[in-house]
Amino acid sequence: MAFPQQRPRRLRRGERLRDLVRETRVRPANLIYPLFVVPGSGMREEIATLPGCFHLSPDRAADEAREVEALGIAGVILFGLPESKDPEGSRGLADDGVVQTAVREIRRACPDLLVVTDVCLCEYTSHGHCGVLEGHDVVNDATLPLLSRMALSHARAGAHVVAPSDMMDGRVGAIRTALDGAGFSEVAILSYAAKYASAFYGPFRVAADSAPAVGDRRGYQMDPCNVREALREVRLDVEEGADIVMVKPALPYLDVVRVVSDSCDVPVAAYNVSGEYAMVKAAAARGWIDEERVVGETLTAIRRAGASAILTYHAKDFARWFA
Ligand code: PBG
Repeated sequence: MAFPQQRPRRLRRGERLRDLVRETRVRPANLIYPLFVVPGSGMREEIATLPGCFHLSPDRAADEAREVEALGIAGVILFGLPESKDPEGSRGLADDGVVQTAVREIRRACPDLLVVTDVCLCEYTSHGHCGVLEGHDVVNDATLPLLSRMALSHARAGAHVVAPSDMMDGRVGAIRTALDGAGFSEVAILSYAAKYASAFYGPFRVAADSAPAVGDRRGYQMDPCNVREALREVRLDVEEGADIVMVKPALPYLDVVRVVSDSCDVPVAAYNVSGEYAMVKAAAARGWIDEERVVGETLTAIRRAGASAILTYHAKDFARWFA
């Protein structure tokens, strides 16, 4: 018999057929856009390491959020650059802190937008670590009450979802207990469950001024070599009450996204992090890649691996290009 006997190309003839049989789709409603909030008002300054993203004062963050809402993007996640730092990160817990203020303004301005807050000390501590220090040690249990207080202050301001990104053991349970105890049982927890100690966070740490002053984060973030350990982190976070579990970074860890989504029954998110974004932007600026197609392909790959939600700096561009 002569070959070919099967002709898969038949279904690739024309956009109607291709669209009909398409297995994976990304919509703006799958995306969450990160915002970096600074003190003051009227501030909107482009971030050198994240071209197209801005340092925004709370009032301008609300303007940006309106634009994000109009594009049909699901929500924003807020990071804060406080007016001052100390060893305990106390400006991160204050009801009049930058993130808390921005949450209130965005909730007022955008009735149809999910407001997520990043819960972590590193942007607020003078030493830049994600927990409190004893000597050179980031101590786990003493950090938990601070994270719980931060999550509570975000909930009081009106956050729909809190997202702990510190990788302390037991923090999801501690935060859930604190939220429930204060009447915030409806506030969801998106845990950065499998967060790797990654060089891909470089541009973010410049943007958020959150690089550790001494040492690194390998004592609490995961070893990039491990995938079974990710399943254990995910299981513990789900047992402690996580509503959504996240894998971070995304592209270099799509195998982790796939096994996590195959092995747990809560929704999975993936964080397409700053270094992934910066590489695309840098190559596109030189004319080396077609940015629009690369972004479409990137976000599709992350969805195809099993993520229902994607945190990405490309969200606004994606929505403009593909919605
Ligand atoms: C805070 C935090 C980080 C990121 C999100 N939350 C940085 C870090 O762990 O050092 C990185 C996000 C990105 O690179 O886009 N702990």
